[in-house]
Amino acid sequence: MNKGKNIHMLDTLKATQRVVSGQRTTGACHIGHYFGVLKNWIELQHHYECWFMLADLHALTTHYQEPWTLKEHVFEQVIDWLSCGLDPKSCQIFLQSEIQEHAELASLLGMITPLSWLERVPTYKEQLHQLQDREIHTYGFLGYPVLMSADICLYRANFVPVGEDQLPHLELTRELVRKFNHLFGTNPQYQSIVNEALDKMGRHQKKTLLDLKKTYQETGSKDQLETAKTLISSQAHLSHHDREYLLGFVEGAGRMILVEPQALLTPTPKICGLDGNRKMSKSYGNVLNLRENPKEIPFKIKNMPTDPARIRRTDPGEPTVCPVFTYHALYRSKEDCADIAQQCRTAAIGCVDCKNLVAQAIIDFHAPIYEKGLSLKNHPSYIYDVIRQGSKAAKEVAAEQMKMIKESLCIGFN
Ligand code: TRP
Ligand code: SF4
Repeated sequence: MNKGKNIHMLDTLKATQRVVSGQRTTGACHIGHYFGVLKNWIELQHHYECWFMLADLHALTTHYQEPWTLKEHVFEQVIDWLSCGLDPKSCQIFLQSEIQEHAELASLLGMITPLSWLERVPTYKEQLHQLQDREIHTYGFLGYPVLMSADICLYRANFVPVGEDQLPHLELTRELVRKFNHLFGTNPQYQSIVNEALDKMGRHQKKTLLDLKKTYQETGSKDQLETAKTLISSQAHLSHHDREYLLGFVEGAGRMILVEPQALLTPTPKICGLDGNRKMSKSYGNVLNLRENPKEIPFKIKNMPTDPARIRRTDPGEPTVCPVFTYHALYRSKEDCADIAQQCRTAAIGCVDCKNLVAQAIIDFHAPIYEKGLSLKNHPSYIYDVIRQGSKAAKEVAAEQMKMIKESLCIGFN
C-alpha cells in the first residue's frame, strides 16, 4: 500500500518537471531541425509537462526588415510541428509575442546582464560575420540570449532541449538566474509569506514538512528533500507562488525566484547539407525540408556529391567521407548501413543505386509527414486554435511568475 503510494508520488514529481523550448519562426523546418530538435520534443511531450514556443520575437532580431513574412512562418511552423508528431493534447504550443511578459522580463533581466557576457557568446560574433547581408549590429540582436533567458525563466523550466549551438545561451541563462537569485532572492516579506503558506497546509502536513526540513538540513538526506518536494507539490490548493516559497524554505536557499534550467542535449551529429560540405541551413540553400514534396526527393539526392575519390563505377568508395552515407545513417537501420558500407568499399554497389536506396528511405519517412501537412493546411482555424489555446495557458503561468519577479524587484503595485 505504502509502496504504491510512493510510486504514484514519484510520477507526480516527474510530471511536474517542466520542459521549455522554442524555435525561431524564420521559415520551413528542414531535417536538421527535425533530427536536431523536434524528434527530441516529440519524445519528451509524453514524459514531461512541455511548453514549445514559436519564437517570433527572436525571428524579428534578424528578420525585422521583412516582418510580413512572420505570420505565414508561424502558421507553417505549427503545421511542421504537428505533421511530424507534436500533439497539442500532450504539450502546449504558444506564440512568444502573444505573451507580453517575454519582452517585459527580457527588459528586466537586461538590467543585470553585463555587456561582456553578451559579447563573449561565441555565436554572436560568428553570426555577425555570417549574416553579412542583414544589418544586425543592433541592441536587439546583442540581447538575443537575454530574451531567450526570459523565455525559459518565465515558465520555471527545469529542462531545455536544444541543439548544441544553443548551449552558450543556456549557460548564460544559468548565470543570469544565479545572479538574479543572489541579488533579489530574499526580501523583507519572505518569512511572513512562508508562514502563511505553511498555515495553509493544515496542522498535520505543516508539522510533517517542518520535520522533513529539519532532518534534511541536519543530515543532508536527499530522500528527505525529495519527500518534502513531493509533499509540497501535492498541495494542490496552494498557489504555485506559495509552493515555490516553501521549496526555497525547505532547501534553505531563501527564495528561488528564478529556476536554474538544465540543457537536454540532442545527441545528433551535425546534419550536413545537400551540397555535402556545409551544415544544413536555409541560408546556404542546401536543405531538405521536413515537408519536402516526395516527388522532389530523388532529384535532390541525385545531385549530391559522393566520395570524391570514387570516380569510376569500379573504384571502391569510402562511406565515411561520403555525404550520402550520412543520410543512410539517419534513415536506415544499423545493419543496412553496415551492409551498404561494405558494398561501397568493395564497389559492389554504384553511387546511383546507393542514392536510390537512400532516396526511397527518405521518401518512406517523409511522405506521411507531407500528407499530414497537406491536410492540416486545409484547416487553418484548427491551427489558430492550437496557438490561441497554448498562448492562453502560457499567459497564465507567465503572469504568475512575473508577479513574483516584480515583487522581488520592488516594482509595480501588488
Ligand atoms: N534560440 C533558439 C534557437 O535558435 C530558439 C529559442 C528561443 C529557444 N527561445 C528559446 C530555445 C527558449 C529554447 C528555449 O534554436
Ligand atoms: Fe557514397 Fe554510396 Fe557512392 Fe559509397 S556508394 S560513395 S556511400 S553514394
